[in-house]
Amino acid sequence: MSQETENWSDAPANVELREDEAHVWCASLEPPAARLATCLSLLAPAERERAARFHFEKDRRHFTVARAVLRDVLARYLKREPAALGFTYNKYGKPELERAGESPVLRFNMSHAHGVALCALTRGREVGVDVEFLREEFASLDVAHSFFSRGEAEMLQALAVEQRTRGFFNCWTRKEAYIKALDEGLSHPLERFAVTLAPGERARFLSIDGDPQEVARWSMFALPAPEENYAAALVLEGTVQSLKLWRYAWS
Ligand SMILES: CC(C)(COP(=O)(O)OP(=O)(O)OC[C@H]1O[C@@H](n2cnc3c(N)ncnc32)[C@H](O)[C@@H]1OP(=O)(O)O)[C@@H](O)C(=O)NCCC(=O)NCCS
Repeated sequence: MSQETENWSDAPANVELREDEAHVWCASLEPPAARLATCLSLLAPAERERAARFHFEKDRRHFTVARAVLRDVLARYLKREPAALGFTYNKYGKPELERAGESPVLRFNMSHAHGVALCALTRGREVGVDVEFLREEFASLDVAHSFFSRGEAEMLQALAVEQRTRGFFNCWTRKEAYIKALDEGLSHPLERFAVTLAPGERARFLSIDGDPQEVARWSMFALPAPEENYAAALVLEGTVQSLKLWRYAWS
């Protein structure tokens, strides 16, 4: 499919995910106050313990709500109860669904930033998603030189100053979505692959380890900002015929 994506739409009551599709859900992490207790009740004891370890109430709340949304979204596809789902974690901390025997397996990845969560789903293919709030003070050339490849840092520097924050976070979210699809988090060297970053330019890999086959193995999408001043990207294995973007409703 073309890498141009539609905008976020209200989700239908029943969702089905085909093998040649990917879905991404976007949710506010500030639900009506009355829903918070329900969110907490969906979490497993280990998730509640993790929530309790956050120092700030806001972080605790956002983690709790993000997990509840994740459980609720996955349960819709699996036709199961959200609280009954189990997760396993790989050695880098990436959560996956405990196998329930379905094939091809439902895969997901989640990202949250500044009160917004995205949850991406595929069948059988690796997937990574990232959302970031645009922080102008963070988007410096110094940070770019530390995290981006040399070519990416040069592309960023070549942008007009007023395009740099957007370009920086285009690059950041696309790189992060890829390392999240690979499961490895920051243990994957960030300078060994390069992505486009200029506002208006199609999101794609420019190179991965000098290996065109690896570039051909992945699809990359710039997702529409879930709210003003966010950037978001999706990376998945192979190609899909359709990408659907659903808005999670709290009412
Ligand atoms: C988890 C990680 C991959 C992303 O962390 P982050 O940017 O703080 O957080 P995000 O909100 O995008 O993603 C967190 C979610 O990803 C999932 N996740 C956790 N570990 C993961 C991993 N190794 N791979 C993929 N997904 C992972 C979890 O669902 C997690 O949600 P939770 O914290 O509620 O359990 C982190 O370990 C990491 O390596 N961050 C690198 C940040 C960075 O420097 N990026 C440079 C880009 S140029």
